[in-house]
Amino acid sequence: MSAAAMPDVQICRWNQLSSGPQRDRWLGDLDHVFFSSSARQSFASAEEKAAFRERWLGRYLVNFPQYAWVALDGAQRVVGYLVGSLDDPARDPLFADLSHFARFSALTDRYPAQLHVNLDAAWRGRGIGAELVTAFVRQAQAAGCPGVHVVTSRGARNVGFYLANGFATRGHSKGDGHELLFLGRDL
Ligand SMILES: CC(C)(COP(=O)(O)OP(=O)(O)OC[C@H]1O[C@@H](n2cnc3c(N)ncnc32)[C@H](O)[C@@H]1OP(=O)(O)O)[C@@H](O)C(=O)NCCC(=O)NCCS
Repeated sequence: MSAAAMPDVQICRWNQLSSGPQRDRWLGDLDHVFFSSSARQSFASAEEKAAFRERWLGRYLVNFPQYAWVALDGAQRVVGYLVGSLDDPARDPLFADLSHFARFSALTDRYPAQLHVNLDAAWRGRGIGAELVTAFVRQAQAAGCPGVHVVTSRGARNVGFYLANGFATRGHSKGDGHELLFLGRDL
């Protein structure tokens, strides 16, 4: 567990926590951060809600726990997380359900690592997101990965966060009523 620059917050590897006795409590915290941060707030059924969680959080924790990072507050609660993977998702059957990877497959070769980062609303704007990205980027660099990307929407506030953290717009694509941006960072 490494101390982070922010007071009262530690950036930790999920793997170090997930083997401990408080795993279920931390998983509950992760779910809370995930669902409260999501743009989508209503689901037609419990199954639909579970599938949504699986798509954007669950499969990363299960398949790539080594690349997951969490931010713990002074009370040892998870207040933020980053999940991701290093290999090109456009060429991985695990992500065949996400059409945007196919749309951006000319770019994912150059920027294969992907990440998803979310913080509890009370903890945003204090540099914690930047610390989580730094932890993941160092890992990806050490593994020899050439680049990392995120896919977000034009006009989203988080675009400024990524631009401030070394990402640049590498591509865009019209989605359902909004424009998707592919932001890539060379490693
Ligand atoms: C985006 C996010 C991970 C950034 O982490 P953070 O610790 O708040 O960011 P930092 O303190 O390092 O940097 C501040 C920047 O984060 C972004 N940010 C802050 N609050 C935000 C919010 N509620 N929603 C989206 N982005 C936000 C802004 O770009 C901000 O810069 P600004 O104040 O000049 O606009 C975090 O704010 C968050 O979880 N936001 C909501 C969910 C989200 O958008 N996740 C990313 C999905 S692609």
